Amino acid sequence: MAHDSTAAAQQFYGRWADLYDFLARATPGLGRLRAHAADALALEPGDTVVEMGCGTGANFEHLRERVGPAGRVVGVDFTRGMLERARDRIEREDWRNVHVVQADATGIEFRESPDAILATFVVGMLGDPGRAVNRWADMLAPGGSLALLDAAQTNQWFGCPVNLAFRGLVVASSPTGMDGYDRPPWAILDERVATARRALRARADETAHTEHALGVVRVTGGRIDSGGA
Ligand SMILES: C[S@@+](CC[C@H](N)C(=O)[O-])C[C@H]1O[C@@H](n2cnc3c(N)ncnc32)[C@H](O)[C@@H]1O
Repeated sequence: MAHDSTAAAQQFYGRWADLYDFLARATPGLGRLRAHAADALALEPGDTVVEMGCGTGANFEHLRERVGPAGRVVGVDFTRGMLERARDRIEREDWRNVHVVQADATGIEFRESPDAILATFVVGMLGDPGRAVNRWADMLAPGGSLALLDAAQTNQWFGCPVNLAFRGLVVASSPTGMDGYDRPPWAILDERVATARRALRARADETAHTEHALGVVRVTGGRIDSGGA
């Protein structure tokens, strides 16, 4: 089952990589949210930052700006088509300190502990987001930071029309549409996004949480004190 959903996600993102890349770059306000997520990592020049589920690399410029030429950015994704766009971007911009790896973000291991890990619009796709967040926290250098950027239904009082529109968007952007779920995909997304945040709060010494876009987008960042080998 997990294998089926992995294959469906890879097929879906592989097929729509060009459109995704366009939307990732051109959607108004998204760049600001990405900058906000990068800020939540409190990066310093020279840091190594890993982006899990990096897609076409829309966050790279924000991360690279913060770690500077002496730092490193490593993007991880399991979809070849998305990584091809990310590689094109790296070549076009001549970013020597940005690299991508094709791998499963929930199983990858690094020889050296990164200083920070970012995942944007990813934990909602994971079968066990709490486990993934815990793994990522374990992987970090002591005092390292972890930040998540996600969309889920809003809890604001005016949420009804916003959530109706959001549900349509979730179905359109789900690798299997409404098929293969025992509950509506937006309910599963809400739960995964919340589970990932609970796991992050449980591991973090300090956390910061902000909401944007009518409460649909959440940015949560934390400094992990018990991480590292
Ligand atoms: C919605 S896109 C987000 C891409 C990028 N983070 C962004 O903000 O534009 C989700 C990405 O996560 C990747 N992904 C999902 N699950 C993954 C996993 N277990 N391992 C690696 N990549 C994964 C997909 O291939 C896709 O590129």
